[in-house]
Amino acid sequence: MDGNGRWARQHGRNRLAGHRAGVRTAREVVEYCGKQEIEVLTLFAFSSENWSRPAEEVNGLMRLFVEALQREVRALDDNGVRLRFIGERRNLPTMLQKRMADAEALTSSNTGLTLVLALAYGGHWDIVEAVRSIAERVQAGELSPENIDEVLLEQHIALAGLPAPDLLIRTGGEKRISNFLLWNIAYSEIYFSDTLWPDFGVDCVEEALQFFSQRQRRFGLTSGQIGATGD
Ligand code: IPE
Ligand code: MG
Repeated sequence: MDGNGRWARQHGRNRLAGHRAGVRTAREVVEYCGKQEIEVLTLFAFSSENWSRPAEEVNGLMRLFVEALQREVRALDDNGVRLRFIGERRNLPTMLQKRMADAEALTSSNTGLTLVLALAYGGHWDIVEAVRSIAERVQAGELSPENIDEVLLEQHIALAGLPAPDLLIRTGGEKRISNFLLWNIAYSEIYFSDTLWPDFGVDCVEEALQFFSQRQRRFGLTSGQIGATGD
């Protein structure tokens, strides 16, 4: 979800106003994805690297996350949304950590959209955590190094148990991954949009889904092997 700061500048507002506008867009997009029966939506809200932004912006974002959870969780629960957080929680404000845990507990048995919020998340952090927990299991004698394979590593990655993303959308014009779900996006289709996140409404999501529906997914095979016409 990139472009909140530029959106704010364009509208003569401060960066936090841009983030607030971003939360409104997130709410619309979540609602739309729920209705479309999308299984999982993961939103990258705050990266490991975002901690290095000016303290005023970081603190404002933390307050915004607390407020947004307080305001939205009940409606999300009513709509059958299951919430899950990925990222390094330890460094988040205690109040936010509590809201996150409460929201996860409240919605854990819901069967609609799984909404994953990546907060203080980094793809590198995720892989390091997975490696550490595997190393601990080896040290404890539960596993031997020969048992380490892709399936096992995947089970220790933050999105364990959820399907790999089919589609990755980056808004705001940059064409890079910026340390998002590195392990899981090996075969994701990637959609880059110049639209700034606060302006990325339902029409933009529809356009992205349209793009996705036209992709031929081969996962390393030939089009002949997957039964497509052409070759
Ligand atoms: C993304 O918008 C939101 C967060 C990283 C929290 P930015 O804040 O990166 O917006 P730009 O890139 O400055 O426009
Ligand atoms: Mg940015």
